[in-house]
Amino acid sequence: MATPRTMRAVQYDKYGGGADGLKHVEVPVPSPKEGEVLLKMEAASINPIDWKIQKGMLRLFRMPSKFPFTPVSDLAGEVVELGSGVSNFKPGEKVISICFPHGGGLAEYAVAPASLTVARPAEVSAVEGACLPTAAGTALQLLKAVGVSFDGGPPPSGSSGPKNLLVTAASGGVGHYAVQLAKLAGVQHVTATCGARNAGLVAGLGADEVLDYRTPEGAALRGPSGRRYGAVAHCATGVPWSVLRAALDDGGGTVADVTPGIGAAVTSFLQKVTLSKKRLVPLMLAPKTEEMEWLVDVARQGKLRTVVDSRYPLSRAQEAWAKSMDGHATGKIVVEIGGAV
Ligand SMILES: NC(=O)c1ccc[n+]([C@@H]2O[C@H](COP(=O)([O-])OP(=O)(O)OC[C@H]3O[C@@H](n4cnc5c(N)ncnc54)[C@H](OP(=O)(O)O)[C@@H]3O)[C@@H](O)[C@H]2O)c1
Repeated sequence: MATPRTMRAVQYDKYGGGADGLKHVEVPVPSPKEGEVLLKMEAASINPIDWKIQKGMLRLFRMPSKFPFTPVSDLAGEVVELGSGVSNFKPGEKVISICFPHGGGLAEYAVAPASLTVARPAEVSAVEGACLPTAAGTALQLLKAVGVSFDGGPPPSGSSGPKNLLVTAASGGVGHYAVQLAKLAGVQHVTATCGARNAGLVAGLGADEVLDYRTPEGAALRGPSGRRYGAVAHCATGVPWSVLRAALDDGGGTVADVTPGIGAAVTSFLQKVTLSKKRLVPLMLAPKTEEMEWLVDVARQGKLRTVVDSRYPLSRAQEAWAKSMDGHATGKIVVEIGGAV
């Protein structure tokens, strides 16, 4: 079927406003430029960064680059058109892609960089595929940042990195992948924090010990076994460095933090110059095609499960947005495009 001239999209036209700031509009279908592909969208997954950009938290970095803005950067769809210079895809191919910070995912069609687009095999659904780029990509880079080794695929037993790992916010989009990937890499003992209601789920993902973050022990990151950690994949917010430092082994260790504030950056710098054994490492996802392909492949093999918190049609994108802003998703929030209106 020929690509139409216009499409349904969801946009906001200023900073702030939350879910109420999202408007349903009819706009021209974008054209793929050099190095881009045009996708007929199947699904898009929301990440906290999407509404943080709307809040103006990345205003200093000129994000979004202009208003009105169509948010959401994690995409699954079908290639319908190729921009100049793109030869590694063909129309009709199912793919997943990440187009951060340009967004465009809450729409019937979106352009994506061919360089960060990978094939989606039939075993990985569009919903699952749309969840992987940011959340699983970040989980993988977080684990690598604390020394977990994925070289040559998961080792049969043990890994060269930390033996005792803590994953905070293990029920969230990033954390639920981090627990699974850590076990896949052979990390001996994974402790995970989450709310009590998700303890069973997180244990089912492979966590060896689960702490309820709302209890005093959980808030102190202290499990019943009394273990301290060689590394922390830190996906939660609001945990002071003093608590994280006390949770690390006396011999030292690394906390990789995916939501570092200015304080974390200063702490990290000071630790570096003082050659501290206990280190806080800020992490920003730098998407890599080969990592996306690897993640899709482990998902295809059934070794990486996506927990979907909730799915919404494009017509109810505001509800998906509000759910993400609420901060209590279990797994991922997905907008299915072309689904029920
Ligand atoms: N630096 C990067 O490149 C990058 C990339 C991706 C994400 N991030 C950031 O990483 C953070 C996590 O992202 P996400 O997608 O995983 O978020 P998310 O899915 O919205 O996380 C929600 C989950 O976190 C749990 N949670 C909240 N506070 C907690 C705490 N103190 N201890 C334990 N669990 C807690 C919640 O449990 P309850 O419902 O029980 O409260 C809920 O299940 C966000 O701040 C995001 O912006 C950064």
